[in-house]
Amino acid sequence: MARLWIIGPGAVGRTLGRLFHIRGAFEIAGIAARTAERAQAGRAFIGAGEVIELAAFSPRPGDVVMLSVRDEAIGGVAARLAEVVDPAGLIVFHCSGARDLETLAPLRGAALAALHPVKAFADPAREVATFAGVVCTLQGDPAALDALAPAVRTIGGEPVALEAGVDRRLYHAGAVFASNYLTTLVQAALDAHAAAGIGQADSLRILAPILRDALGAILERGPVQALTGPIARGDAATVAAQAEGLAAHDPGLADLYKELGRRTLDLSRRKSPDRDLTALAQVLAKLASD
Ligand SMILES: NC(=O)c1ccc[n+]([C@@H]2O[C@H](COP(=O)([O-])OP(=O)(O)OC[C@H]3O[C@@H](n4cnc5c(N)ncnc54)[C@H](OP(=O)(O)O)[C@@H]3O)[C@@H](O)[C@H]2O)c1
Repeated sequence: MARLWIIGPGAVGRTLGRLFHIRGAFEIAGIAARTAERAQAGRAFIGAGEVIELAAFSPRPGDVVMLSVRDEAIGGVAARLAEVVDPAGLIVFHCSGARDLETLAPLRGAALAALHPVKAFADPAREVATFAGVVCTLQGDPAALDALAPAVRTIGGEPVALEAGVDRRLYHAGAVFASNYLTTLVQAALDAHAAAGIGQADSLRILAPILRDALGAILERGPVQALTGPIARGDAATVAAQAEGLAAHDPGLADLYKELGRRTLDLSRRKSPDRDLTALAQVLAKLASD
């Protein structure tokens, strides 16, 4: 079994480290953190491995090194590791969605990869228990992907390869839209309801079924076919009235409504190329210039 060295036993490092250990994907070798206490706490959760300083790392060819430190620390840790190990024959990966492989440049000579688990990691015990089916995107050198894809499958994840040319800034921005900004959109809906005098508990009750239904339709049929509502119907008067009502309470929320309206108009045109959306387009253009 290949050996795994872990730098950064935080939320992701603990979760993946424990899963790799208990599922037998890798034998855990060394675990390093910024302090011995933190590394020890990580080791206690993972259940295997030796607490060791980064400077004492001694991986041999065929070993795997996981840099599960925060994004801004990856480059510095890679540079420090390159001072103490010979990268030739190693497989080294980071777990960031946003950082590219250039971040690992000091370790060139190793097979380099990014393994990004597309999941929110907060509580490692919970994440270990709920890891089944999580997509882990993989990008990097083929030798690294050949070793990491089976390991992802062994821990219940689903490996998805990203082409070498994929710009990780845009890849991660997509995940931000789908996950973080969806949260912001739901908050915008709650804010509109609050302005109308509807409390959060009632608002969530009202929105929960339509939110689930919309998400189901989007995932099943794609956003264009799933689109409904006033903009899809070309209802210019309703859109103008809603923008006016929002602006009276919260101009920022009205701006968000208008911006999303313009992008939704594009979707409507794709859904119904024959529908006359001229009046709606004029209303949205006027709202934009107000
Ligand atoms: N959290 C998520 O939802 C999530 C999801 C997917 C991918 N990721 C990615 O996974 C990576 C790790 O994120 P995380 O959320 O697990 O971070 P985290 O919980 O903050 O853990 C980072 C770990 O790295 C250690 N560390 C930081 N700088 C170090 C250094 N210079 N040398 C050695 N150890 C160092 C930290 O030690 P201390 O305890 O001393 O700070 C901590 O153990 C990031 O690249 C992140 O983008 C995160």
